[in-house]
Amino acid sequence: MIQSLRGMNDILSEEYERFEYFLSVASTIAKRYGFHYIETPLLEETALFKRSVGESSDIVGKEMYQFIDKGENDVCLRPEGTAGVVRAFVQHKLDKKGGIHRFYYHGPMFRYERPQKGRLREFHQFGVESFGVDSVYEDALMIMMVADILKALGIGYRLKLNSLGDQHCMPEYRKKLVTFIESCDDAICGDCERRKLINPIRVLDCKNEQCQNLYTNAPKLLDNLCDGCQNDFDTLKTILDQHNIAYEIDTNLVRGLDYYSKTAFEFVSDNIGSQSAIAGGGRYDRLIEFLDGKPTPAVGFALGIERLMELIIMPEPVREGYYLGAMDVAALIPILLCAEKIRRSDKAVVEYEPRSLKAHLKGADRINARYCAVIGENELTQNSIWVKDLVEKTESLIPLNDFFV
Ligand code: HAM
Repeated sequence: MIQSLRGMNDILSEEYERFEYFLSVASTIAKRYGFHYIETPLLEETALFKRSVGESSDIVGKEMYQFIDKGENDVCLRPEGTAGVVRAFVQHKLDKKGGIHRFYYHGPMFRYERPQKGRLREFHQFGVESFGVDSVYEDALMIMMVADILKALGIGYRLKLNSLGDQHCMPEYRKKLVTFIESCDDAICGDCERRKLINPIRVLDCKNEQCQNLYTNAPKLLDNLCDGCQNDFDTLKTILDQHNIAYEIDTNLVRGLDYYSKTAFEFVSDNIGSQSAIAGGGRYDRLIEFLDGKPTPAVGFALGIERLMELIIMPEPVREGYYLGAMDVAALIPILLCAEKIRRSDKAVVEYEPRSLKAHLKGADRINARYCAVIGENELTQNSIWVKDLVEKTESLIPLNDFFV
């Protein structure tokens, strides 16, 4: 029997209800904040991710679904959404147009990771990207938006916050950090050796326990910010305080992608096991120029939908639409005609098997229908349909000519 690939799941209808509910809540909130939907392809040139997510990241270094297509193009399945949105932003010359552009998106992402609970090879993100606002208020807006979405879904979280500095303070910090790493060179892991050469701050995020112990004495990002970055970080904290959004400062939070500067944040849940990050994001003011666009400030985030699924508190299901059944074979045709009329404005589900009234009422309960409508011998002779409102507990016999006219 052919099975789905490891780390790639089907989403069946019951689970999809949650999925759809999440998308409707998140999209409604994104629209309220003035964001517009954008759809970009699942397949992009490999170079796009090398130049954005970065060659030092695990995502590009180890996890890409990369291949040469029939036209000899080096392509890969997108491991994340930001790079494609930036490519589209530059390709459609919105960078030249100037002004503010705010997008939201959702869809599958692909990373060849070692699958485990909460870590898939095909997973879904809901993300937003904002272009053209050079103000830390927009960073705060991103965090408020994630907090709003999680609150609407009944999901608790902890928010981790850091600043990754910018081109003024980062080079100096990087030098200090490299000097420190070199002082403990013999003891660091192979991955950190590689990180030291390509993107040293990535070592702070190393999962190796021995490395983590060594780095407790490493120079801290937050002690090395320039005045501009420090001011922005202080303002961000003040805005969050004023909005009663609690946060923890995590000076080792560097994020798994290379394009960030200044604000970096992650939302984590303590209720889903070791893969606890439910959303992540930050500012990436240099990425647009790295992808050949006009320098444009930008900030965004993405939520991992699968990690949220079990945490979502679904609203009480409400009875909706019609269940229709025949109590006699001869009643099937009028039943189908009635269903067709209903579907012009409401939901109608038909049971084809002629059954007793009791069985049909059970059927209506099973699909949580608001109305149970049946036609039996009596109704056929009277050219009518019997309808029970299962919420109001009322019954009526309606002439077929008057039903949904
Ligand atoms: P990220 O932190 O790599 O950021 O991913 C965002 C979220 O996607 C994570 O917090 C997690 O919930 C989910 N996720 C990541 N990998 C997996 C996986 N293998 N299985 C299940 N869920 C996963 C980004 O992708 C950035 N593009 C976010 C961003 C947007 N930054 C600025 N704009």
